[in-house]
Amino acid sequence: MDLSQLSTVLAEISSEFDQRVVGATSLVAIDQLKSDFVGKKGKVALLYRQLGQIEASLRPSAGELINAVRDRIEATVDDLYPKVRQAERATIIATDVNDPTAIPRRLYRSSGRIHPVSRTRIELEDIFVGMGFSVEEGPEAESEWYNFEALNIPKFHPARDGQDSFYLDLEGEDQVVLRTHTSPVQIRVMQSQTPPIYAVMPGRVYRRDTADARHTIGFHQIEGLVVDRGITFGHLASTIETFTKAYFGPDMNARLRPAYFPFTEPSAEFEVTCTICRGQGCRTCSNTGWIELGGCGMVHPNVLRAAGLDPETYSGFAFGFGIDRLTQMRDEIADMRILTENDLRYMKTI
Ligand code: PHE
Repeated sequence: MDLSQLSTVLAEISSEFDQRVVGATSLVAIDQLKSDFVGKKGKVALLYRQLGQIEASLRPSAGELINAVRDRIEATVDDLYPKVRQAERATIIATDVNDPTAIPRRLYRSSGRIHPVSRTRIELEDIFVGMGFSVEEGPEAESEWYNFEALNIPKFHPARDGQDSFYLDLEGEDQVVLRTHTSPVQIRVMQSQTPPIYAVMPGRVYRRDTADARHTIGFHQIEGLVVDRGITFGHLASTIETFTKAYFGPDMNARLRPAYFPFTEPSAEFEVTCTICRGQGCRTCSNTGWIELGGCGMVHPNVLRAAGLDPETYSGFAFGFGIDRLTQMRDEIADMRILTENDLRYMKTI
């Protein structure tokens, strides 16, 4: 085979792909298309195997020709995937009209199901219990001390503004706040248990955010806390990696980025590639290609001290992940607000 023959074969493959891609209007069809063309035994892979028959000096150019076609096919398929997924959902919603005369039958046919966020929470608990963690809970209405001071966030600390909080109008000395994160449960656990502590603490949190594609004002976090002798950042990183594989599967692309939290030092932000656009940039990820799932770091010595533990003896790490975001990224939900609207027609598609 020479280069011009190869070009002809590639042109044929390309045009066959272009014809078939028009008809690929379901996720199943796209998967099939992908495996037929760029899968392990696909048409393009077979060409790579024939490279050996091409004269050695021409092989690099031949490889480039094949790569170009493969890249174009992969990019087209990747682009199509989220679009078809959204379209399939839209069709389900549009055709599932609410016909009141059909109610008895519909009720009979439809069974209840767990809300996607609750499902994620249960699954996260299972994953961490499997890794030897216990599951703890704390109150949603917290004193400012637990929500802020004990976590090394003094009054007038800028982070206190950032956490735009809801205050409860109760009479009494102490201000009571709807917890802005699950981190105050760290303090409660450290006060009531002696290390070694390996605990996760899921629950609802509240912030005065403006709702958008990634935010709602009431959402859920799962806090993690490990306190023991000799705990290092390596333990934190490997725990997060194990968790990511268990929850998202082996292919998820994740990273830790340096960040600042008053209650951990050093601190990092945990991010994954946006699954709505596969990292290309879209409205959901504000065109960054990444979605932040939470924060983590080594527990600050002041926090250990506030909870009555000696930082000379113990060290630890903590993390706080958004359960709604974890659901959003795995189930490819472009706009998080849908999770609070409880539109059953949509919920059935998740
Ligand atoms: N509490 C932080 C937040 O809500 C997340 C976090 C938890 C960061 C634990 C570090 C350690 O943004």
